[in-house]
Amino acid sequence: QGTMSVKNDELYIGGISCLELAKTYKTPLYVFDEQLARENCREYVKHFKVKEHRNRVAYAGKAFLPLHMCQLIKEEGLYLDVVSGGELYTAHKAQFPMENVLFHGNNKTIDEIKMGLELGVGRFVVDNYYELDLLEQFCKERGTSQAIYLRITPGIEAHTHDYIKTGQIDSKFGFTLTNGDLYECLASFHRYEHLQLVGLHAHIGSQIFDVEPFLDEVDIMMSLVKEIKETYGIQIREVDLGGGVGVYYTKNDQPKTIQQFCEAMIEKVEKSCQKLGINVPTLIVEPGRSIVANAGSTLYTVGSMKDIKDVRTYVSVDGGMTDNIRPSLYQARYECAIVNKMRTGDQKQVTIAGKCCESGDILITDVDIKGIETGDILIIASTGAYGYSMSSNYNKIPKAAVVSVQNGKSRVICKRQTLEELLALEVL
Ligand code: LLP
Repeated sequence: QGTMSVKNDELYIGGISCLELAKTYKTPLYVFDEQLARENCREYVKHFKVKEHRNRVAYAGKAFLPLHMCQLIKEEGLYLDVVSGGELYTAHKAQFPMENVLFHGNNKTIDEIKMGLELGVGRFVVDNYYELDLLEQFCKERGTSQAIYLRITPGIEAHTHDYIKTGQIDSKFGFTLTNGDLYECLASFHRYEHLQLVGLHAHIGSQIFDVEPFLDEVDIMMSLVKEIKETYGIQIREVDLGGGVGVYYTKNDQPKTIQQFCEAMIEKVEKSCQKLGINVPTLIVEPGRSIVANAGSTLYTVGSMKDIKDVRTYVSVDGGMTDNIRPSLYQARYECAIVNKMRTGDQKQVTIAGKCCESGDILITDVDIKGIETGDILIIASTGAYGYSMSSNYNKIPKAAVVSVQNGKSRVICKRQTLEELLALEVL
């Protein structure tokens, strides 16, 4: 994947030996393949027709948002989707242009809403009446007006893990399309004198491989644009189709390329608009995982090994659910290897366990791997999305460092947390 290559049985990323990286920066270590992340951004910009059609690609910061990533997406001409005051603050500190920020969330706090208004975020993606009322009140007080999207729950069931589905009716997110909730809101929208309804947003879920649910979403959204104009006289100019296109984690996954996904979406929008006799709106897509997942890997040092005869061999590493919660939370699968035994060594089936005091802290169950021994450096690939961003200090394990690699050079973009920093918030 990306800039990974094997020379003399040894794995390199960005032109640097993984063994060297582990020696220099210690483990556990997240390695960020900057070139691949940039290439993914460029694929989106090109195939989602950002320049020709003035469409927008808004990177979903929740996947991975250190300051450096914020800067990278600014350089690549992407917009940014944030979901909290913390992500907003990160964007602000990285000098990300606030007019290119979309602010999501089903329960933005009063402080977060005020912060968004003060910093001047381009679009609030409004989830519910409570937020509409608060926004209207604060804009009135400030004497300003705010462009918003309404988040719609379109009633689409996509095939993915239950925890990361969002489009179905039974969802905490958005105005429900099919039970009248959205229409009631639109009918009374004139009450919100300080809010301009410029767009609609929907997100049907994450790690979705089929394009069909996305195409159904397009049909629903475009019909809504027409209906809203005809019934309520409101011209929707922007339609945000959310994120969620699936990526490769293991050989069971057969994802669409960014190009295939973008082309299918754009073609469908054009057809749908033509059929309905409406102008094609500005389109927004919000990918997170498909930009960074494959650009990240994690290096661990192999520690204890436990062979339970006729049952299983557990191999424990120096990280685990604290740096990657996805296997425990979603039964997510990954691939791994020993970084200097890429092609040699006896193949063995093992279970890679984390070091947390918890039986569920397993990174990969029953995986075939070559030559694994205590002291080896193990790499788990495709950890770039929702790895660092969902990391925790459970068991008081400090956060691992993130190092960016490119063209034979490496640079720390997130420092390893020290024990003192671990206690920085605590008062004796
Ligand atoms: N836009 C919205 C409104 C979202 O809720 C999400 C993801 C995205 C965009 C980006 O989706 P992506 O392209 O990254 O699939 N922690 C989970 C994923 C939860 C995603 C929640 N929303 C995981 O590790 O799989």
